[in-house]
Amino acid sequence: MKHLLKMSDLSTEEIIDILNLADQLKYELKHNIPHTNILKGKTLGMIFQKASTRTRVSFETGMYQLGGYPLFLSSNDLQIGRGEPVQDTARVLSRYLDGIMIRTFEQKEVENLAEFGNIPIINGLTDYAHPCQVLADLMTIREYKNSFDGLKMCFIGDGNNMANSLIVGGLKVGMEVAVACPEGYRPADDVMKFASKYDCFTITDSPAEAAKNADVLITDVWASMGQEGEAEKRRKAFAGYQINDDIMALAKPDAMVMHCLPAHREEEITSKVFEEHSTEIFEEAENRLHAQKAVMVKLMAD
Ligand code: CP
Ligand code: NVA
Repeated sequence: MKHLLKMSDLSTEEIIDILNLADQLKYELKHNIPHTNILKGKTLGMIFQKASTRTRVSFETGMYQLGGYPLFLSSNDLQIGRGEPVQDTARVLSRYLDGIMIRTFEQKEVENLAEFGNIPIINGLTDYAHPCQVLADLMTIREYKNSFDGLKMCFIGDGNNMANSLIVGGLKVGMEVAVACPEGYRPADDVMKFASKYDCFTITDSPAEAAKNADVLITDVWASMGQEGEAEKRRKAFAGYQINDDIMALAKPDAMVMHCLPAHREEEITSKVFEEHSTEIFEEAENRLHAQKAVMVKLMAD
């Protein structure tokens, strides 16, 4: 593994390896077992072209805990924000840094960084993918359910970056995956093509159908970053694509609920369901730290 650009780049073994290391790093942190020399002397540039709470703080803290140094690079302050091509930025930053985490719009930009630079590139969210989040989600599912065997994951909502990455990640680790999206808001074509090879993948426009007997229910905002102008249109298109008591009644009684956050209560999830499942939702948020530390170690340690 040279980069983390999207879930489909990872083999099942690589995903499990990252999750195992993430569990170990979490254990070490909780038990004050130091691991501050793993990335000693290494630097990570973090380029943000969109807002972030979790990704920024967990990468920054994670790098510090591993003994390295994180640099927060807002695109407003970089020449990239004034039009310097990403290909040139990649070749320059490769000479200063040991790794780059980037949050941006187009997946192509992340792929270009990887192609033109010669240091590991980590996708901290694009319009197409959110692999760091999905590694944390898989870690959380395994933590609560002990294994992926026989589990059904249900995603309700927009076929966005989260849906794309959850479908690929969920299928790769062996879960049944059921997705409910309105017509016109389905996952990316290449993701649908990948998923169509699995008998245990289903897509429907009925949230009730997807939620039936689910072990894990996941949703995300109806309008992602960059789609604020479509918010009104999307509110109409997604009405009914909500995790609420009626949907929970169809899932297994011990089903867990996850949300990458930030959440829009009473849109994609009711406040009631959110609060009833806040333990796993905030464990999921915490696990961003551990999963990303594992990714950085895999990509950047000597
Ligand atoms: N879930 C997630 O990526 O959160 P941020 O946008 O706050 O980084
Ligand atoms: N789909 C959301 C995820 C935020 C973490 C977005 O892209 O804004």
